[in-house]
Amino acid sequence: MAGRLVNGHVKTDQADICRADAACPGFFCLAWPWIFFTGLNPEKIEYPMRKVQDYYFTKAKKENYPARSVFKLEEAQKKHGFLKSGQRVLDLGCHPGSWSLYAAGIVGSRGVVVGVDLQKTDMPGQKGHAEIHWLCYDVYDDDLVGRLKKQWPGFQVVLSDMAPRTTGSRYADHQQSMRLVRRVLEITARLLHENGTFYCKAFQGGDFPAVVQECKALFRKVKVVKPDSSRRESREVFILGQGFQPRRYSRKQEKP
Ligand SMILES: C[S@@+](CC[C@H](N)C(=O)[O-])C[C@H]1O[C@@H](n2cnc3c(N)ncnc32)[C@H](O)[C@@H]1O
Repeated sequence: MAGRLVNGHVKTDQADICRADAACPGFFCLAWPWIFFTGLNPEKIEYPMRKVQDYYFTKAKKENYPARSVFKLEEAQKKHGFLKSGQRVLDLGCHPGSWSLYAAGIVGSRGVVVGVDLQKTDMPGQKGHAEIHWLCYDVYDDDLVGRLKKQWPGFQVVLSDMAPRTTGSRYADHQQSMRLVRRVLEITARLLHENGTFYCKAFQGGDFPAVVQECKALFRKVKVVKPDSSRRESREVFILGQGFQPRRYSRKQEKP
């Protein structure tokens, strides 16, 4: 596996790897002698992630999507049909861009898609599809909601495929995932239109039922979805909240 040195970091040439996947131990073993002799700090190396070359990976390539994750949205859309023509869609954790590209095709030229990620994303949009605005932001940044509100009065759909960088500790990864879901709920509460939809990735674990309850307090209908394209061994699921009730959120905030 070839690697190049960028700002003291070793980068690989795999463009479509997703940080949510686990690091590849095989690479580590092969690269270790090289790391030792070049004197690089192993903590500064970004290891290539496991790339799942399965049916969905090939299908995504064929359909010109940069990541197989697109099918985790497509399956939910085919079953629940929450994306509609003319909508404004906020896609949190959009990189490398598959969900935003897919949503832009469904909402069409009268719609708008805003993709937000820590990583810079710049995929060209397509004719007849919605315009996509790519923003490079940390969702924990306090300025994010203000920045979005300045340009768009609100959204009909909030999507999040965000995943924390996995650490190998199931507990820590679950906690970080729950923190992300709660942050998405906060952003959703401030930007989602009444009766809007929320579709958000979560890693299951001990606090998951409590987070689902928090969603149930804000939406008329909540479902936990495990798409076929999501690997069975992964604890990843998606929370689908439909029929957002903003008044319920304000009441919850008022409670002492
Ligand atoms: C599984 S990938 C998303 C794939 C994307 N849905 C697609 O179909 O192309 C998860 C993304 O979440 C992003 N992410 C994780 N934590 C974030 C944060 N705090 N703020 C913004 N993006 C974050 C990562 O940078 C990563 O690109």
